[in-house]
Amino acid sequence: MTPDLMEAGAKALADYRAKVAEAGASGDRGAAYGRLLTAGQPDFAHGVALYLEGITVSFDGFKALNSLNLSVNVGELRCIIGPNGAGKTTMMDVITGKTRPDLGTASFGSNIDLLRLRESEIAQIGIGRKFQKPTVYEQLSVFENLELALKADRRVRAGLLHRLTGAQLDRIGEILTLIHLLPQAQRTAGLLSHGQKQWLEIGMLLMQDPKLLLLDEPVAGMTDEETERTAELFLSLEGRHSLVVVEHDMKFVGELTQGWKKVTVLHEGSVLAEGTLAEVQANEKVVEVYLGR
Ligand SMILES: Nc1ncnc2c1ncn2[C@@H]1O[C@H](COP(=O)(O)OP(=O)(O)OP(=O)(O)O)[C@@H](O)[C@H]1O
Ligand SMILES: [Mg+2]
Repeated sequence: MTPDLMEAGAKALADYRAKVAEAGASGDRGAAYGRLLTAGQPDFAHGVALYLEGITVSFDGFKALNSLNLSVNVGELRCIIGPNGAGKTTMMDVITGKTRPDLGTASFGSNIDLLRLRESEIAQIGIGRKFQKPTVYEQLSVFENLELALKADRRVRAGLLHRLTGAQLDRIGEILTLIHLLPQAQRTAGLLSHGQKQWLEIGMLLMQDPKLLLLDEPVAGMTDEETERTAELFLSLEGRHSLVVVEHDMKFVGELTQGWKKVTVLHEGSVLAEGTLAEVQANEKVVEVYLGR
């Protein structure tokens, strides 16, 4: 994080603590602010970034998620695979507050109860989500898209017309390099290839420095070369961020997991198997419901 962001964050926290102290004296309001204070400070000391237990989501009696358990470590890159309708996107909807489960618990770090937060609060505390379809501002340049993403971060508290500081310009430069779009910085986003738009959207998420990134079918529609570059990008993010990547492209999953990382297979709303890609590919149940078809 840049010094500017840290300073803005420190100021926001100080304002916040003042609010909590003020509210603490007045019963119910204090409890409400207390909840928000917890929301502002995920605790990753135990090494767990995301923890889901017994998550069940029903749509008209049909269980899209059925007592789902999942634990993702800080800095881990976890791939999730599974047949259409397994509940992968619904799981992301639960983590980001878009869908409320009927049952279960979901926490971020060891202390944040995600099920008590609104979607906007969840984004704010450091969970970024990439949907399948790229959503960038087509009329604006690549640079302007990243600038907007930076200014949308409430921790920065700069108006849209506020000039960028040197540190913010550096941060945009860093992200442009990371997402391979530095030569296209002034290009109108609408003119980028599908893959480049996907990278731009990932760059926009990264501007907010999320602790956990959820990526739903990020390489769908990409060329082979774009897919390979995306794998390199995700591998470079691993460690600094936790990543949950949902994909059907097994070659891509193989590149990300490098033979040793854990893959989770979802089926009918629950975990069917977990292990290395080779292990789950050799699992008879997995072959039957997914890979063998
Ligand atoms: N809002 C909804 N209302 C009713 N049913 C839903 C809703 N959202 C999802 N479902 C159903 O829940 C199940 C899980 O869907 P989900 O989109 O999570 O699957 P998925 O694993 O992401 O599949 P895919 O690989 O096709 O993206 C599906 O049967 C789907 O039809
Ligand atoms: Mg899906």
